[in-house]
Formats: sequence, structure tokens, C-alpha cells
Amino acid sequence: MKVLVSGASNGIGLAVCKKFLDLGHEVVGIDIAPASLAHANYTHFIADVRDALPDVDNVNIVVTAAGVQLPDSETINVNLKGTINVVEKYAFQSGIKSVVTIASSSGRNGAEFPMYSASKGGVIAYTKNVALRLAKYGATANSVSPGGVKTSVNAPVMDDPKLWQAVLDESLLGKWAEPEEIADFVYFLSVVNKSMTGEDLLIDNGEILKSNFIWK
Ligand SMILES: NC(=O)c1ccc[n+]([C@@H]2O[C@H](COP(=O)([O-])OP(=O)(O)OC[C@H]3O[C@@H](n4cnc5c(N)ncnc54)[C@H](O)[C@@H]3O)[C@@H](O)[C@H]2O)c1
Repeated sequence: MKVLVSGASNGIGLAVCKKFLDLGHEVVGIDIAPASLAHANYTHFIADVRDALPDVDNVNIVVTAAGVQLPDSETINVNLKGTINVVEKYAFQSGIKSVVTIASSSGRNGAEFPMYSASKGGVIAYTKNVALRLAKYGATANSVSPGGVKTSVNAPVMDDPKLWQAVLDESLLGKWAEPEEIADFVYFLSVVNKSMTGEDLLIDNGEILKSNFIWK
């Protein structure tokens, strides 16, 4: 299958590209940064998801992972409007099989920078809208909402031992996910899954669930 991945040069997007390439698929990556991998089945475009995007024919799977975690409103432009720009450009044609957007647990509980949480809540709602419009092609659309994932965007807390311990203590399982784990879920939702659509999958090590039963 032909898989288009935004945010392909680092973190979760890069892990998604490697997963599909390892399993023999053709991958087209889009990122503002240069390619981080070289492979016979990989094509890279340097492009900004906020702008005009390159023409790519016959895309079967769209995965949107391009995102930023900033306190300003550019976060809405990249994370929400950029996601919409990518999906509208590549998904609505007869070859489409599935769309997976990378949202965030903060789109469900609001626990992040305000613009970031709002952008991700928007991605979750937009993905449901995509599911409604893609059904006529027999295609699915789902979002994935990771909690903490060990990528360089989180260096400010990961590189500070005190903050890192405080962050880990927030989750039920006392850890964060690796980007490769998120890629596994993306693969399942986009290739194996046939019947789940319009849903948001939370992968947060039990961070939102964490609560204590108080009794006399
Ligand atoms: N890492 C986490 O803890 C975490 C948790 C929940 C959700 N997410 C989401 O997962 C996605 C990937 O995050 P990550 O941690 O892998 O981040 P990352 O910074 O490692 O990778 C993001 C990639 O997107 C690219 N990018 C940024 N702005 C772009 C633009 N305007 N146009 C094209 N490409 C652009 C970057 O160059 C980078 O390669 C993001 O949407 C992020 O919000 C991450």
C-alpha cells in the first residue's frame, strides 16, 4: 500500500514510516525538515503542512503526525489546520483505505498548553467528521491520543531528573511510551482494522485513569 505520513522526519512520524517500510509498503513522507531515512520505497518532500502540499497520486493510507507543542496560536495552525490541510488534500479519493491522525490525551483532558489542548481536541472532532465523509469509499478514520511519548519534543522534562520523576509519577504504569509503540497502534488501525471508525484511541499508560479509591 502507499502510505502518506506528515511529520515524517522525527519522533512518532519517523517511527510510523519505519514500521510501514519494514513491512514492505511504499511510504511518502512530508516534513519541514529533511529526510531522516533513506530507503528504496521512501520518497520525501520538504513541505510545511500549513502551505500548499505536493501532488501525490493514489494514496491508500494517510497518517498525520506533524505537530508542535508551543504556547502560541501557531500551534492551532500546525496541529489542527495543518492536519485538515493534509487530510483534505490526500484522503478524499477512491483509493483511500484509512486515515489515522495523531491527536493527544490532552485533547481529552485539557492538561497541556491551552492552544495545544484545543488543537488536539479539534483533531479528535475533525477525525470523526472525516470518518463520516470517508465511509462512502469504505474507508475508516480514527485518531490516536498518546499520553507522554519519549521524543525530542519532551527534552525539557526528560533531561531534568526531578521533573522526569514527577512526570512518570503522573501515570498509572510509571512510564512513557516509545514512538515505536504508537507506530504499532497506527499500523493496526490503518491496516488490520476494518470496522472501527470515528473513534479516538487513548494510549497514555493509564495517566487519565489514575485515581485512588478512598474508603472508610
Ligand atoms: N511526544 C509526545 O509526548 C506526544 C504526545 C501526544 C501527542 N503527540 C503528537 O504526536 C505528533 C508527533 O510528535 P513527536 O513527539 O513525534 O514530535 P517531533 O517533534 O519529534 O516530530 C514532529 C515532526 O513534525 C515536523 N513538523 C513540525 N511542524 C511542521 C510543519 N509545519 N509542517 C511539516 N512538518 C512539521 C517536525 O519537523 C518533526 O519532524 C505531534 O502531533 C504531537 O503533538 C506527541
